[in-house]
Amino acid sequence: MRYKILTAEEAAAMVNHGECVGFSGFANAGSPKVLPRAMAAHARREHEAGRPWRIELMTGATTSTLVAGCLAGEDALERMMPYQSSPETRRAANNGSMHYIDAHVSLMAQQMRYGHLPRIRTAVVEVCDVTDEGELTLTTSEGNTPTFCQVAERIILELNSYHDPRQLRCLHDIYLPTDPPHRRFIPLNNLDDRIGTPTLKVDPEKIVGVVLTHEPDDIAPFKELSAVTEQIGENMVRFLEKEYTEGRIPPEGLPLQSGVGNVANAVLASVGNSAIIPPFKMHTEVLQDTVIDLMKRGRCLFSASCCLHVCDEVLLEIYRNFDFYRDKILLRPQEVSNNPAIARRIGLICMNTALEVDIFGNVNSTHILGTHIMNGIGGSGDFARSAAYTIFSCPSIAKGGAISAVVPMVSHTDHTEHDVHIIITEQGVADLRGKSPRERAETIIENCAHPDYRPLLRRYLALTPSGHTPHCLSKAFCFHTAYRETGDMRNAALD
Ligand code: COA
Repeated sequence: MRYKILTAEEAAAMVNHGECVGFSGFANAGSPKVLPRAMAAHARREHEAGRPWRIELMTGATTSTLVAGCLAGEDALERMMPYQSSPETRRAANNGSMHYIDAHVSLMAQQMRYGHLPRIRTAVVEVCDVTDEGELTLTTSEGNTPTFCQVAERIILELNSYHDPRQLRCLHDIYLPTDPPHRRFIPLNNLDDRIGTPTLKVDPEKIVGVVLTHEPDDIAPFKELSAVTEQIGENMVRFLEKEYTEGRIPPEGLPLQSGVGNVANAVLASVGNSAIIPPFKMHTEVLQDTVIDLMKRGRCLFSASCCLHVCDEVLLEIYRNFDFYRDKILLRPQEVSNNPAIARRIGLICMNTALEVDIFGNVNSTHILGTHIMNGIGGSGDFARSAAYTIFSCPSIAKGGAISAVVPMVSHTDHTEHDVHIIITEQGVADLRGKSPRERAETIIENCAHPDYRPLLRRYLALTPSGHTPHCLSKAFCFHTAYRETGDMRNAALD
């Protein structure tokens, strides 16, 4: 190998205070493993010596303590973008010690290439193979990695021997759209068309060192399904089956997109069990454990995503039975997997999760009580605006019933009423299509709100007899203020 082998500590010491760094990976899949920890240890030593050491971190969508949380835990992140979900980064974003830019994940690569964002000096990229000519075999994700390698001044590789490059090359379809105004349509006629390359070519002169590793992605399996998440899944299935049987979805079906988290995983599992919904293809951001089970059962025929985000046991099942999976999985950069133009063209059924919804159909997926970030919008907005079916689901209550997920006005808006077609809770389904704000309010209250909260929501709606969207601005956040002041939204003052 023509490249210099570095220890993780040597590589970490190459990164300077104030630098902008790009990490490969999407969630935990394909993220660097040892360098983030070494950088966190380096930051600690620098801080103990009284020197500042903080970086700006760009990722595909980093989620764990291992990748970004360890840096945030050492107060080593000045800024991060476009997604987070570890306790440490969440804390840093919410206490103001780190600037967190919660952004549509499909848009970031183009913004980087145009120079709209801080310029990456160092890209840290996990690969399972590299040639002397700079041909990289990425591991379990593509994320923003092709663009990071293009714009970065230098690249540090983590060469991870845990994966077999001969297998992983079969799963990658690396395609970077040309930037506007020269962009042509992305030539995906069928979801399983190959439009790109199996490896990523970078300038070998940029590769300043290689750190050797042997580590899995460390992705935890999902929580067991609860009665509530199972019921949400059942309601989703009943709704989609009716759409099929009444002819509103073509008999050959439409592709599915499924969001992240426990609720999304449960919903997808239920859809997979339907005897009426035909076997389907997926065009999604994150391929989660359930998809592999659905493939084994012949329910999911194919999945394109920007990462293979499965627990180790499931990954090893894919590797062991690779001949079965090789034509069923493709990984693409997130600006392709989440491209709104593709979602609109293929008639996607998009199923994501909300934290709270309001009676008029606006959705908050990101902020607890309007101020505190949970994770981020991720790809939900990329799909929501453009899908044929935009469905949001969530349990009707949280924290033992002290919080209603259906509120008079969302305390933060990620998806507006204009983008939201269907809302589903364990209580039922609100079909908002073709309905005015007043009709939507009645449908959501009667079908989705928890019975404990329906009388309060009805009273709220009755407060203002006039207006197209009849809000009472002085009471719009009475649920949230009641929770802040008394710990229970049922104490909302509506008089
Ligand atoms: N107010 C306060 N807390 C709430 C809440 C609300 N309205 N609704 C839920 N919560 C809490 C739950 O109590 C739970 O907390 P706990 O872990 O302390 O019990 C936590 O939020 C997560 O809830 P859970 O029901 O387990 O949800 P999940 O794992 O399915 O995740 C989201 C739900 C919304 C956080 C997650 O889907 C997400 O981050 N979505 C945004 C990004 C996205 O959609 N990406 C997909 C793009 S393709």
